[in-house]
Amino acid sequence: MTAIADTEIPSPARLRAVAENVARAAGSPLTAVFRADMTVDYKADLHDPVTVHDKRTEATIRKQLLAEVPGSAIVGEEGGEIGSGPVKWYVDPIDGTSNFAAGLAFWCVSIGAVVDGRIVAGAVYDPMSDTMFSADSDGAWLDGAPLICPEAREEARATLITGYPVQRDFRLEGREAALAGLGDLISAFSCLRRPGSAALSLCHVAAGWADAAAGFGVNAWDVTAAILILERAGGSYRPLTLGKQPDGAPAHHCPGYVAHGPGARFSTLDRVADGVDSRRRAGAMAPAL
Ligand code: IPD
Ligand code: CA
Ligand code: CA
Repeated sequence: MTAIADTEIPSPARLRAVAENVARAAGSPLTAVFRADMTVDYKADLHDPVTVHDKRTEATIRKQLLAEVPGSAIVGEEGGEIGSGPVKWYVDPIDGTSNFAAGLAFWCVSIGAVVDGRIVAGAVYDPMSDTMFSADSDGAWLDGAPLICPEAREEARATLITGYPVQRDFRLEGREAALAGLGDLISAFSCLRRPGSAALSLCHVAAGWADAAAGFGVNAWDVTAAILILERAGGSYRPLTLGKQPDGAPAHHCPGYVAHGPGARFSTLDRVADGVDSRRRAGAMAPAL
């Protein structure tokens, strides 16, 4: 690919092509080390693993993005923020690190591009199945073919993907309340799964392989690319600030979300998500003891 001069803002289509190429080039080699011995370190706690491959892959992605679009700003999960150009990339080198480290084949590379505060392009690449989800201002694609999210089914016949709750949710809103919410979701949906990887889960909803997804602890590098893929495919993404962002904050900066296909009426999911949001807002306003 020909690199772009750092004064130009590339078109969304060009940024999508860059995201796709870089995600594929960085992700493909990971299949060779998947399920091999690897050292696993932990960040915040034992629920937050990181491997040498997360760090190396992010370094490769940064180098390639800067080569393709010089003067970009990059925010990555492992290396923080660098640069201050008009194109800001949000990079998760491996989304679903717990799965990757354990040997479970549900993880991906996620690269999203933001210009003037709006998501304009993104790619989510699943190296294990060699599947590329992507989007720009013209639409969403699955392996190069237009991606259209089908109508959601009724709640009682639908599949929900969510990692909620995790230990952090117990801490933030109380174990009883969180488990009660999970119980309501298990009863209301035909099937509830916890596959891990917010980005890949959202892309599964975009493709109609799951009817809904919900998360309450995501960062911009998890969701930026996948939000655009889902929305351009025709699905809905409802961000939740959970008291951590101002109301009306851009969706990719919000820590919570409810996502589904068009026409969905998931009243139990909405009620549980609103409950999480109000408990978190109350917690965020409570004075620290
Ligand atoms: C995590 C995964 C997980 C989601 C967490 C993310 P990581 O990212 O997407 O499914 O529930 O909120 O932090 O640590 O595997 O890159
Ligand atoms: Ca992630
Ligand atoms: Ca990650």
